[in-house]
Amino acid sequence: MKSTDYGRTDGRRDYIFGDAELRRGICEKLISLMRDSGYKETVTPTAESYEVFSADPTRPMGNSVYKFTDEQNRLMALRCDCTVPIARIAATKLTDTPLPYRMFYCQNVFSAPSSGNRLTEETQCGAELIGTDPQSSIEADTEILELAAKCMKALFGENFSIEIGHGRLFTTLAELYGIDGETAEAVRKLIETKNFASIESMDIPKPFKMLPKMFGNASSEDLASLDKLTEETGSEKIKEIIDYIKTIIIKLKEKGYGNCLSFDLGLVGRLDYYTGIIFGGFVKGLGHSVLLGGRYDSLTAKFGRKLAATGFGVTVDDIFDLLKDKKEENAEKGPARPVRIALTKGRLETKTVEMLEKNGIDCSSLKNKGRKLVFPLDNGRFEVMLVKSRDVITYVEHGVCDLGIVGSDTIAEYGTAVYELANLGFGKCRMALAGTAKYKNDPDSFFGGYSKKVIATKFVNVAKRYAASKKADVETVSIEGSVELAPILGLADGIVDIVETGDTLRENGLEIIEEIFPVSARIVANIAATKLRKKEIDEILSDVFKV
Ligand code: PRP
Repeated sequence: MKSTDYGRTDGRRDYIFGDAELRRGICEKLISLMRDSGYKETVTPTAESYEVFSADPTRPMGNSVYKFTDEQNRLMALRCDCTVPIARIAATKLTDTPLPYRMFYCQNVFSAPSSGNRLTEETQCGAELIGTDPQSSIEADTEILELAAKCMKALFGENFSIEIGHGRLFTTLAELYGIDGETAEAVRKLIETKNFASIESMDIPKPFKMLPKMFGNASSEDLASLDKLTEETGSEKIKEIIDYIKTIIIKLKEKGYGNCLSFDLGLVGRLDYYTGIIFGGFVKGLGHSVLLGGRYDSLTAKFGRKLAATGFGVTVDDIFDLLKDKKEENAEKGPARPVRIALTKGRLETKTVEMLEKNGIDCSSLKNKGRKLVFPLDNGRFEVMLVKSRDVITYVEHGVCDLGIVGSDTIAEYGTAVYELANLGFGKCRMALAGTAKYKNDPDSFFGGYSKKVIATKFVNVAKRYAASKKADVETVSIEGSVELAPILGLADGIVDIVETGDTLRENGLEIIEEIFPVSARIVANIAATKLRKKEIDEILSDVFKV
């Protein structure tokens, strides 16, 4: 091993000198706020029985948790969450302690990353309010939200936003309209990612279509707009939920947090975990939420004692990144940068330019671009960056671009952490399984038999999901381009790829075995930007893209 390898800490961080001080300062600030609010520190073991963490039914345990066996051969897990062990303590060790319990933590969590840059060891700091009277959950939720807002304010001044939704709204609607099982999960996912285009095209009751569009700030006008859902459903249960959200926001407004509050009924969260309000905290300069929280009244019961519970946690490493580069201050103080759009180079670029010109935007700079990659358009109102399809998702996910134009094939493969705001209708093609003529239109014969089939593809995740839907055991080979060569040369039995005219397949003696899903160009958006730059983004979507 080269000595330089000792300096590598892939997915984990060394905090050195000033960085360590900054990180420690963040933790101390949070801890002292939590202490001053009457919360007491709780420290849980770094490794616990695997069963403890699997008590949360929504946690994907699989490969994302570090597991090992202890000296007695018991299956253990490194701490992958801080709330679950605290729920365990509240249910099992505090039975003689008077309720409620105000507990805080500041400790590390470990998770094997499924993709990208997330750290595998992070410091989380959070507060839990457990065992309050179930009849006064609104007071408990207000207390925990106020503490969350205090923490954000202490770190970021006025440059943050806390967004509130409700974890029971979707399930209540689903019960009301008799939607369950796979359909409910499919609709929930579309709402969660604000996939307006797909939701609109679905044959589902109107209230589901309303949910992702119902977000706004704490103004009386925006809050009043929430009543539309009550009116549309005529349901007393929905009214209760809407009134709950409104009351909390009004209470927090009275405490002086009105400017940093918003609501989003499309915040549907982990269905079996959150039993009441859910909320996220966003800061300019970071593409995802820095704070997450909500009500989870079912969790302690998994450990044998039912207690009402609400809480939140922040990721200290995210806060460190923001404060170290003063990203949030620069984002606020510097001249507001224009909305940035990452555009997929090539075919979609040409079609997008045609559409923009039709909508009255001068694109001459984009048409005579030379080697330039950044193009201010519409008198600098927005700027376009030309990038490869995969990178559109990366730039938008990280929030350095607010919007992106990319095919739904790329979104299906990589786009789990972006909102999908509109279907632009062009760039139409199909994702398909293709192979030699003997399998033409016959997926059963392709997947049948005892030998494992090999699929070559650029879309490994799509291919794996598709094979799983066929209950087939396949191998995938990742190929970057001209994937049609793989079955011709005998590297694979078939390919999963996009087909537009079908010429490439035809000219290489290949046939479609089955179409998997239709593909077209979509507008994707960074999650935080849709909340922090809502007005500008809405205007660009309607003026520039006419969607
Ligand atoms: C895409 C796709 C197919 C081809 C399909 O490749 O991977 O190979 O287009 O189009 P058709 O049905 O109209 O023939 P692309 O041209 O983007 O290049 P690549 O093979 O290098 O990915």
